[in-house]
Parts: sequence; structure tokens; C-alpha cells
Amino acid sequence: MDQDTLKMQVAAAALQSVSDHPDELLVLGIGTGSTAEHFIQGLKTIRHRVDTTVSSSERSASLLREMGFSVTDLNAVPRVDIYIDGADEANEQLHLIKGGGAALTREKIVAAVAERFICIADESKRVDTLGAFPLPVEVIPMARSHVARELVKLGGQPVWREGTITDNGNVILDVHGLNIASPIELERQINDMTGVVCNGLFALRPADELLLGTPEGVLRLTV
Ligand code: 5RP
Repeated sequence: MDQDTLKMQVAAAALQSVSDHPDELLVLGIGTGSTAEHFIQGLKTIRHRVDTTVSSSERSASLLREMGFSVTDLNAVPRVDIYIDGADEANEQLHLIKGGGAALTREKIVAAVAERFICIADESKRVDTLGAFPLPVEVIPMARSHVARELVKLGGQPVWREGTITDNGNVILDVHGLNIASPIELERQINDMTGVVCNGLFALRPADELLLGTPEGVLRLTV
């Protein structure tokens, strides 16, 4: 079974979880990336359950609008019932690395608000220790070199994702070579660097549930 089929399978499982929610009308947080886009494509099947959506990127917002869903500013919704999004890596504690699609800051904000965060991924994203996937860090453009030097002090090799500007007008450094034994501590340490907007570690606010697509079916992991 190829990776895209596994992503589709896990998106379908997430749609079922949303359908099973006890409330009739839901405010849904929608993430970014190919797995999230499979979820968006399937959302029409449960349109009657969606009050409105909030989106973690301009790209997902456009897709949602094209499909006739309303997309509301996060500041204008009273709550987010469920946030559905993919990940680049996930460990057993449901700590994640995200930001492969450069949407990490808005993703982290929506996850912070959400009552329940369901992460959807194919099984290749499951790891024992985070860090094989380079950690994305969103940085204010004028602080790029300063933050890069600070990240080198932590043992990483930051690489500027040239040509990428985030929806917030910032740049991304992808940090290679980090062996992330203490994700919560590292998330805080990188957040503390002047000029950093956000980093792609989701450990202070991990997923509540991880749905993993495997050839044997969908695995549901919680902590
Ligand atoms: C975007 C993300 C995505 O969730 C992550 O990159 C996974 O993408 P995909 O579902 O395409 O594998 O964090 O910023």
C-alpha cells in the first residue's frame, strides 16, 4: 500500500471520529499538508455537522472556501472543538515535529485553542526519538543569522529554507542533526531565543490522539 493511500485511509478514520463527536454542530480546526488535504476533500460528506472552520494556512483556507465551507478568524470563534492535522514525526508520547509545510506557527496556535487535537499520519511518521526530520523554526527575517548561530550552540545544523516566506511574513530554518531526547525542554529553549517566532516541536501541547495509517488498518494511539 503506498503512502498516499495510507494518508487517505487515516483521513477517513478522522472523519469518522469527527462524526462520532456528541455535539451536533462543530467548529473544526483544519491543518495543512497532503494528509490534511485528504481530510478536507472528505469533509463534504459531513458538511451538515460543520458550523465553521478555522484554518492553519492560507492554502487550506482557500481549499475550504472552494468547497463551500466558511473559514472564520480564530479570534471570532468561541472555541475549536477538534483540530485535525498531519505531522512530520510523532513519538509514543504524541510529541510531534511539524512545519514541513511552513505552517507551524498557525498550526501551534490552533492546536493551543483546540479542545481535542487529532493528528493524522501514515506509519512512516512514527519514531522512537524525534529529530531525524529537520526541525523547522520560524524566525523574524532580520534575526535569521543570530538564531542560526544560537541553534548551532545547541548542536544543530540550521539550513535556511530559501525562497520560503511563511503566511506570517517570516523565514524558516530547518535544523538538522538534533537528537531530541527531551522535546519539552528543547521546545522551551528554542522558544526563548530572541527572534524565534515558533518552533516545530509540539511537545508542550502534544496531540491528544494519533491516528496512524498502516497496511493492516488504522492504529489509534493516545497517552
Ligand atoms: C505543515 C505540517 C504538515 O502537517 C506536515 O508537514 C505533514 O505533511 P503531510 O501530511 O503532507 O505529510 O506540519 O506545516
